[in-house]
Amino acid sequence: MIRVGIIGAGFMGRNHFNQYEKLSGRSKVVALCDKEADRRIGDWSKVGGNVGDKQGTKRDLGDIKPYRDWRELVTDPDVDMVDICAPTFLHREMSIEALGAGKHVLCEKPMSLSVEDCDAMIEAAAESPGKFMIAQVVRFWPEYVYLKQVIDAKELGSLRVLHLRRQAGMPDYSLDNWIWDPQLSGGAILDLRVHDVDFAVYLFGKPKSVYAQGYQNSHGSIDRVHASWDYGAGLVVQLEGYWDMPTSFGFNMGFTAVFEDGAILWDLNSGKPLTVFRPDSEPETPEMRGDDGYFREVDYFLNCIEKDKDPQTTTPHQSRDAVALALAEGESVRIGEPVKIK
Ligand SMILES: NC(=O)c1ccc[n+]([C@@H]2O[C@H](COP(=O)([O-])OP(=O)(O)OC[C@H]3O[C@@H](n4cnc5c(N)ncnc54)[C@H](O)[C@@H]3O)[C@@H](O)[C@H]2O)c1
Repeated sequence: MIRVGIIGAGFMGRNHFNQYEKLSGRSKVVALCDKEADRRIGDWSKVGGNVGDKQGTKRDLGDIKPYRDWRELVTDPDVDMVDICAPTFLHREMSIEALGAGKHVLCEKPMSLSVEDCDAMIEAAAESPGKFMIAQVVRFWPEYVYLKQVIDAKELGSLRVLHLRRQAGMPDYSLDNWIWDPQLSGGAILDLRVHDVDFAVYLFGKPKSVYAQGYQNSHGSIDRVHASWDYGAGLVVQLEGYWDMPTSFGFNMGFTAVFEDGAILWDLNSGKPLTVFRPDSEPETPEMRGDDGYFREVDYFLNCIEKDKDPQTTTPHQSRDAVALALAEGESVRIGEPVKIK
């Protein structure tokens, strides 16, 4: 039984808590830290979100230890694994301290706000007996898992075009709107876009260069990005991500993939299933596995701990590359030119 301590009982902390409950034969949340008194004792009625389980309720946390100070949670000998669901500007410090205390660490995306932070976290992981993974949920999301399989197996021939999209109204669920401040969240360029940036890294590795257009709002945050990634002739990769839509728009993620012998289309908010189009036949809607990406990422990380294997589906180095590429897109938006990737 893996004993888990969660830091941050907001949108993601509540979501991860629900996954551990579903995995109760293998894991148990034994400690929960939040700086807000109501949240650390299970009153999540004011905790919202934009995908998955969107509205919290009051929960009876039984004998789960409530902590005000996250440093006490990470040094609690009853905790084997720390799950960091706190705001992004805290990821570096919390991960390094938890790894230093010998704990396994699952940390929410984006890994951190700078490449330097990510390098420091990777260094701490190298010196710790604990496993370390960034919760890059898209790598575990059924529709994206399916897409990767089709691309890798060339089921529809070679891929010609991939368009990844993540579209939203300005998030209004984070506590005191910390997410709006780019010094704390990285803005849309990191907080929102790192999902698709990381997925492109997963599929194709690093591009030669990125060119992005977008704009910066008065808070200094880049709220919209339309990017083209250069992998050389024969493959068009475009990523668009924004959170400047009216709030009533809600949230969408999806993709269009065009192959030599067909195409795949999916958009979460269309309500339609992922659809495969082949020449001369009716569109197909292959069945996706029931569990969502949040369940699968937590299940996977528990499995890595149980089997004493370092995570491979997503590695901290790849999460670092995703941060570097998202920041390169931001630079491209600012200078109006392509940015070469080393
Ligand atoms: N994977 C995804 O789909 C996804 C979705 C949303 C957010 N996230 C990521 O999850 C992280 C958390 O975001 P969120 O939306 O849950 O935010 P949130 O505001 O809903 O929750 C954050 C919680 O952390 C607590 N907190 C803040 N500072 C703290 C401290 N010093 N000690 C203890 N608790 C503290 C807050 O009180 C709050 O309850 C961010 O890094 C975000 O980018 C990931």
